[in-house]
Amino acid sequence: MRLLKGVFVWCIWLLFLLSVEARVRHYNWNVEYMIRKPDCLEHVIMGINGEFPGPTIRAEVGDILHIKLTNKLDTEGTVIHWHGIRQIGTPWADGTAAISQCAINPGESFHYRFHVDKAGTYFYHGHYGMQRAAGLYGSLIVTLPKGQNEPFHYDAEFNLLLSDLWHTSSLQQQVGLSSAPMRWIGEPQSLLINGRGQFNCSLAAKYGNTTLLPQCNFKGGEECAPKILHVEPNKTYRIRIASTTSLASLNLAISNHKLIVVEADGNYIHPFSVDDIDIYSGETYSVLLTTDQNPNKNYWLSIGVRGRKPNTPQGLTILNYKTISASVFPTSPPPITPLWNDFNRSKAFTKQIISKMGTPQPPKTSDRRILLLNTQNKLEGFTKWAINNVSLTLPITPYLGSIKYKLNNTFDKTAPPDTFPMDYDIFNSPVNPNTTTGNGVYTFELNEIVDVILQNANQLTGNGSEIHPYHLHGHDFWVLGYGDGKFEPGVDEKKFNLTRAPLRNTAVIFPYGWTALRFKADNPGVWAFHCHIEPHLHMGMGVIFAEGVHKVGTIPTDALTCGLTATLFLNGTHP
Ligand code: C2O
Ligand code: CU
Repeated sequence: MRLLKGVFVWCIWLLFLLSVEARVRHYNWNVEYMIRKPDCLEHVIMGINGEFPGPTIRAEVGDILHIKLTNKLDTEGTVIHWHGIRQIGTPWADGTAAISQCAINPGESFHYRFHVDKAGTYFYHGHYGMQRAAGLYGSLIVTLPKGQNEPFHYDAEFNLLLSDLWHTSSLQQQVGLSSAPMRWIGEPQSLLINGRGQFNCSLAAKYGNTTLLPQCNFKGGEECAPKILHVEPNKTYRIRIASTTSLASLNLAISNHKLIVVEADGNYIHPFSVDDIDIYSGETYSVLLTTDQNPNKNYWLSIGVRGRKPNTPQGLTILNYKTISASVFPTSPPPITPLWNDFNRSKAFTKQIISKMGTPQPPKTSDRRILLLNTQNKLEGFTKWAINNVSLTLPITPYLGSIKYKLNNTFDKTAPPDTFPMDYDIFNSPVNPNTTTGNGVYTFELNEIVDVILQNANQLTGNGSEIHPYHLHGHDFWVLGYGDGKFEPGVDEKKFNLTRAPLRNTAVIFPYGWTALRFKADNPGVWAFHCHIEPHLHMGMGVIFAEGVHKVGTIPTDALTCGLTATLFLNGTHP
């Protein structure tokens, strides 16, 4: 009897354990170079387990992802960053080389183990050198647990991962950008939707500018055939969209159909209806589409370049009403991408994004403010991007281990400046174009409320100011507002949106403008904050934030195999 009772109690305990224990999803991934034809022409690109883009992860809120990543590249390191996942309690799994971990050596593996704690549309990508530009990326979707409903209805969903492709290798791009004089990468040759595009052979050739699009022979076969969206009439579809472009700002539209925007960067927003959306590198959206148009036609889905003078044909696929064959060509030309330099239109779109009623709002005041001036500069003949006149060069020893284990001489111990000279003329090219490099850290008190004001400025020479989409690791921030010209302390705060500020992890600064962000430094770790344009980051356009590193748990030894962190094991200081 006693034995039986014991077994019974034990069974109940086991049941309890099973019910609270999060599900662990295991993945075994190999990163490798492959020869593929993403735009119908052959290129050397990076992929995972033979797939490009990498496999899509679909997980549920509360799951633990365990990805064993093996580097099958023969001669270079690699890491993968989980873009939009905050890594609460696991800062070593953020996948940023020289920041959260050492790059994984060829032949070696690293175990990424982290929680996915918020439903939404995310993606992952390489975060070492310019491996994202080489094609190392894929989708990461987190759904609500079964039985829980999203705050909007839909019948089925699609997932679109957008990217841009160059015919020069990422290595050639990287060397060119780091040369004196700098060799710019130019505009992409193709735009890809789910890793597929058609170079010089737009599907729309029969309607469009045929000088730009002379032929359409699909020599690439299935590898570059567009992934068609098959739909039934009178249904609602959720389309998840993520942009992992290296450079391009995009506009996405579907002929004849309205899009209702409901999610941005893994956060619900106040739904609004549009004909097209702008999406910058690092951003994600969900839009709802109702198939209420003539079901005896097919429709174009297009992506086109905005924000820079385009020299790339639109990326296209087809919305196919299953009532007819998918091979029936749409009867009208694809949507026209809005003018690349109609920035008022871009701002109008961005300003429509406000938080969903009832979602957490920013604290009314902040404890610390940093103003970051973004400039393009010179350094001994090289071209750099700098923030408050410091161009970021990453150290050999990753910050997280350096700070946590109090190593000396691993990076600049003086923090970069919190502001810039208030008389700096943002409307003209810099009077003194010279900058310096550095790798100091902005350190925040744990739980401090931080405001970041990003200030845009004129480029190095001539007139012009570029768009920069800024991405923060480890947090979401509230976007408090966007303004034109120079941020005026004491005046512009009055324009902050403190009641319906959207939470995001990426926000743009428009040409000659400022963007104000607020976040709580409540996630112990070391976090990158940078322009998501791959060549800009490579040229130094980023800063490093650290908070509460003393509260970080034991860092897995696999993250500490390089630089001075490797010596921790020699003298036994690693716990
Ligand atoms: Cu998606 Cu640090 O980037
Ligand atoms: Cu940039």
